[in-house]
Amino acid sequence: MEERKLNIVLLGPPGAGKGTQADILKKAFDLLHVSTGDLLREAVKAESPVGRKASEYMERGELVPDRIVTELVKERLKQPDAKRGVILDGYPRTKAQAEALDAALNELGKAMDLVLYMKTSEDVAVQRLSGRRVCRKCGKNHHVTNMPPSAEGVCDICGGELYQRKDDNPETVKNRLRVYEDSTKDLVGYYRGKGLLREVNGDISAQKLFEDIKSLFKKEGFS
Ligand code: AP5
Repeated sequence: MEERKLNIVLLGPPGAGKGTQADILKKAFDLLHVSTGDLLREAVKAESPVGRKASEYMERGELVPDRIVTELVKERLKQPDAKRGVILDGYPRTKAQAEALDAALNELGKAMDLVLYMKTSEDVAVQRLSGRRVCRKCGKNHHVTNMPPSAEGVCDICGGELYQRKDDNPETVKNRLRVYEDSTKDLVGYYRGKGLLREVNGDISAQKLFEDIKSLFKKEGFS
């Protein structure tokens, strides 16, 4: 019997721990992690036309236009390494993106299996974003108190320099959470209607959440 591939979306507010959990899940289940935030930050760093356009939105904590983000995701999903199953992190974020994703997966002969809704309270999200530190070299997430590096300012994995994301300042965080409420929360209903939504508690530790997700996958027939 052919092995069942797993395509999942991680849905939740900024600071829910989507990137952190995706990093754990990709290793445990051999999945490709596609983060639109990471793809956009790479484009900004490379100063490509997409990056120049995206940076003005990202710095304000607004959504980058659907067309730009969807194009990036579609291209990524066409690559051979996406055949093994994908974790989408930070995409879709609007109903239009969700519909575009359905169409793109359909074209590729794939389908979405599960949407994990990481329900997270606002004070937890704000605490996590204000203390997040990211490695400039390998992109690994740390947190000044929740997941402190062994040496201050230095990545535990590769020794790279840790920095604070530009959009993690209090004003932009406030706006990102508002944008999430306005644009992304609709998706909970969209995916619930399709029978794909599974709710998990985003407030608990990353390891405990991973255990919960593993149990859920087992129950759903993915292991
Ligand atoms: P993006 O990079 O996707 O940011 P986000 O959705 O705001 O999510 P974050 O990366 O801030 O949080 P996360 O949930 O991944 O949490 P993390 O694991 O890092 O998007 C950035 C911008 O790009 C957007 O504002 C927009 O402009 C644009 N964009 C991206 N996608 C787009 C799209 N589809 N359409 C339009 N525009 C788009 O964890 C946070 C911190 O908490 C870390 O320090 C971590 O160490 C810690 N932590 C994580 N989990 C736990 C835990 N369980 N317990 C304790 N600490 C934890």
